This record gives sequence, structure tokens and C-alpha cells, in this order.
Amino acid sequence: MSRPILIGIAGGTGSGKSTVANEIFYSLPGESIAVIEQDSYYKDQSHLTLEERKKTNYDHPDAFDTELLVKHLKMLLDGEAIEKPMYDFEVHNRKKETIKVEPKDIIILEGILILAEPEIRNLLDIKIFVDTDADVRIIRRIQRDIKERGRTIDSVIDQYMNVVRPMHMQFVEPTKRYADIIIPEGGCNKVAIDILIAKIKQILAKN
Ligand code: ADP
Ligand code: C5P
Ligand code: MG
Repeated sequence: MSRPILIGIAGGTGSGKSTVANEIFYSLPGESIAVIEQDSYYKDQSHLTLEERKKTNYDHPDAFDTELLVKHLKMLLDGEAIEKPMYDFEVHNRKKETIKVEPKDIIILEGILILAEPEIRNLLDIKIFVDTDADVRIIRRIQRDIKERGRTIDSVIDQYMNVVRPMHMQFVEPTKRYADIIIPEGGCNKVAIDILIAKIKQILAKN
């Protein structure tokens, strides 16, 4: 097996990163692809109370265990399996269980700050930024966080205004400059997703 290809999908919260990554994954059933979420690598916060964990800044690079993520990416690139951490948004903490990820020909890494970390950026073969307007992103986030992440509308808006928005402007948006490809709108951009799928098929055929 030749070295796996590592594809990074960055973009603001609610831009559609996870949707794009999953769309690619499920469009290529049975193919040698793994998806790694940067969210899975939020630092363990078991030493804090739930109230303290609610107050953590989850949009700053320091919130992530980048050391472990880089180690795992290098292992996958070297053809070794990893035990990927699992994250529980409802309790703001890593779960006790991990999930085994076998090495694959294509590794898709998605997350808000994957292009902000030089060590991660340097490992990526293809760098993508999903670019969705902030008004659309906050609407998507309100709906998703209430439905799937156990939040209230007030908590989402408060967190967005005080933390998510300023951190996005400081750390996420500037990384668009590192992207090879910019995908507007995320999940509904069928043209862009089809082009990516065609490229991935080409890589898989070569392997
Ligand atoms: P991210 O991982 O970038 O935060 P998600 O992929 O989780 O974004 O998308 C955020 C929310 O918006 C999800 O509930 C998802 O189903 C929805 N969504 C994603 N892309 C689209 C789209 N193109 N049109 C409508 N809703 C979308
Ligand atoms: O999927 P998405 O890119 O939206 O995931 C990242 C977002 O998750 C960050 O903007 C962060 O504010 C949010 N988050 C949260 N609570 C946590 C961990 C992350 O609201 N415990
Ligand atoms: Mg996501």
C-alpha cells in the first residue's frame, strides 16, 4: 500500500464540514476511507465540574489535544490502527470508550481549526475550506445544537456572541488562505462534492 492521502476539511462552525465529510464517505461504500473529526480530540476535562466545563472556550486552539491528534494522524499515515477518542457534546467531555480506526487509503480530517495548526497543516495532502456565510452558519448551529447537542437557544446565542464569533474571526477565518479548494455552502454543493469524489476515486484506483 502506498502512503495514505490525508484530506483536511476546515471551515467555521455550521459551515457543513461534517456533512461534506460524511457525504463523501457514504458516497463511496466499501472503499478504503476513514473520517476523523477534530472534535473527537477535545481535551479530557474530567477534572472539571459540568458547570466549569460549560464555560470552557471550545473555539480556541488550546481546547484541543493536538499532540494526540498529530500522533494518531502519523500512525494512520504509517499504516497503523488508532484508538480514536469519542466526544460527548451534551456533557462537554470525552467519553470513556474509544473507537478503533484501521489505516485506510484515504483519511478525511474535518474540524474548525485543522488548518490553524502548522503541525496538522503540514501533514495534509489536500486542504479544503468550507465557506458558508455567518448568518447561515448560526441558524444551522442553533437548530443542530438544540436538536443534537442538548443546548437551549439562549445558551447557543450567548456562546456564539461571546466566544464562537470572536474566535472564528481570530483563528478560523484567517486559515482560509491555506486552502487549496474553497467550497461554498457545504452540504448542498453537489458540484463540489462530486468533483471531490471523482478525485478520490482516481486516487483509490491508482492504489
Ligand atoms: P459543521 O460540521 O461545519 O459544524 P454540519 O455539517 O454539522 O456543520 O452542519 C451543521 C448543520 O447544518 C447540520 O444540522 C446539518 O445537517 C445542516 N446542514 C449542513 N449543510 C447543509 C446545507 N447545505 N443545507 C442545509 N442544512 C445543512
Ligand atoms: O461541528 P462544529 O464545527 O460546529 O464543532 C465545533 C464547535 O463545537 C465549536 O464551535 C464549539 O463552540 C462547539 N463545542 C461546544 N461544546 C463543546 C465542544 C465544542 O459547543 N463541549
Ligand atoms: Mg461538525
